Amino acid sequence: MGEEAMSETITLKDGREVVLRSSGQGDGHVVLAYLKALGESTEFILTHPGDTPGLGPVEERIEWIGQGKFYSLVAVDPQSGVVVANTAYSFSPRVKLEHIADLGTGVLPAWQGVGLGSMMLGRSIEDMKANPKIHRLELTVMVGNDRAQRMYERAGFVVEGRKIKSIRQPDGEYRDEIIMGLWIGE
Ligand SMILES: CC(C)(COP(=O)(O)OP(=O)(O)OC[C@H]1O[C@@H](n2cnc3c(N)ncnc32)[C@H](O)[C@@H]1OP(=O)(O)O)[C@@H](O)C(=O)NCCC(=O)NCCS
Repeated sequence: MGEEAMSETITLKDGREVVLRSSGQGDGHVVLAYLKALGESTEFILTHPGDTPGLGPVEERIEWIGQGKFYSLVAVDPQSGVVVANTAYSFSPRVKLEHIADLGTGVLPAWQGVGLGSMMLGRSIEDMKANPKIHRLELTVMVGNDRAQRMYERAGFVVEGRKIKSIRQPDGEYRDEIIMGLWIGE
């Protein structure tokens, strides 16, 4: 199934609706606004508000989707057109890493806790299973982000290791990252 073709309205646990679809051409500004808002809302993602990518790199990644080099599922508020959540995977161009998809995900605070993150994670894993090239999913989660770690564990990810002091927060505090993986191959 072509990613662009998929668009589905989902009712969340609190009764609100979101439209779930693949990112596509013309989404650059709304995806960028989402990335900025998420970066400002949490210490738990790598992107700092000061180093949010520009519109160019965001649009380039959207271009890559059609070329099979990137995957991005967005949840859009049908009232405002705002992107409220995103689940993305990067695929490596390197021959020996072609079987790996690297996951990043987030839900804006006003939309957290109503099942959206878990639902998008589940959908995206199904999409990765349908991709014959991809056999392994991986991610890192900052120590202390228990809600995210539990969500990944429930989806089947296992803890594989730890990167020591791999994150330096703007206040100078160092954080470890937990490495998690999910084998979806034979
Ligand atoms: C982690 C994140 C993606 C989860 O998304 P979400 O839509 O809030 O999660 P869900 O509503 O699907 O709930 C997932 C689990 O989180 C827990 N949870 C949700 N809301 C919670 C809250 N307000 N307080 C405590 N736990 C909560 C629940 O245990 C839930 O599990 P359940 O299915 O047993 O109820 C989201 O909180 C987020 O974007 N956080 C900031 C960015 C981030 O950390 N991204 C991940 C980086 S690795």
